[in-house]
Amino acid sequence: MKDNSRPIGVFDSGIGGISVLKEIVSLMPEENYIYYGDSANAPYGTRQITDIQHLSRNCVEFLLEHGAKAIVIACNTATSAAAAMLRADYPDIPVIGIEPALKPAVLWKEHDRIAVMATPMTLKQDKFLSLMHTYEDRSVIYRVPCPKLVGFVENGDLDSPELHDYLQEILSPYLEKGIDAIVLGCTHYPFVEKMIRTVVGPDIKIFVGSHGTAVELRRRLIAAGLKSESAEQGTVEIYNSCTTDGNAHVALCRKLLAL
Ligand code: SIN
Repeated sequence: MKDNSRPIGVFDSGIGGISVLKEIVSLMPEENYIYYGDSANAPYGTRQITDIQHLSRNCVEFLLEHGAKAIVIACNTATSAAAAMLRADYPDIPVIGIEPALKPAVLWKEHDRIAVMATPMTLKQDKFLSLMHTYEDRSVIYRVPCPKLVGFVENGDLDSPELHDYLQEILSPYLEKGIDAIVLGCTHYPFVEKMIRTVVGPDIKIFVGSHGTAVELRRRLIAAGLKSESAEQGTVEIYNSCTTDGNAHVALCRKLLAL
């Protein structure tokens, strides 16, 4: 008999996956969760693919050792680089990833101009390129690599003048091209959405992908007979690989989860 009270394991290169965890908890509050942030090795988005695969496997092992019944890759970079490998390595448990919310952005408005902000790794992987090619005849899609943005969020900097200047520097060329929409293709970025809004103004629509991941997770749990039937609110345990200031990262995760 399956023990459906086992936790859902969620991992990210650091604290960004909390934006996904929030969405999942709000959809399925009755589940128990365990979150692992690999802040000691963040950012993933500027690493080699084999490195990201190795680190992702370590994250999954940690979650399985803590009894996870399903795995959520709450990191766009790790999904692009390692989802296929993880699904092959762990065929007996659901492994759900995240992808940039390009489809809703394309369907939102005909012939719109869309800027996809993500890590250099996400934007150069076949997974993203094939997603982009699916929609290229309907919209103009710009790839906007943001190699330093994860670092701001990992340091808890969500609103400094330096962050503002960095966003201005990377987004200005696309504002000049008249973009209509921005897709946040990294799970860290929703935490700086307010600052992005300040830089781009009120008229540009911003899309995030975590709702799709939450809905897909629920579908997969039901299909696998793993969905919790509990009538009570579940628990959330948070761990971080950063040994020097691991507690600070965990505290920041708890703060962001409560926002
Ligand atoms: C990173 O660690 O560089 C980013 C994580 C993501 O792509 O969501």
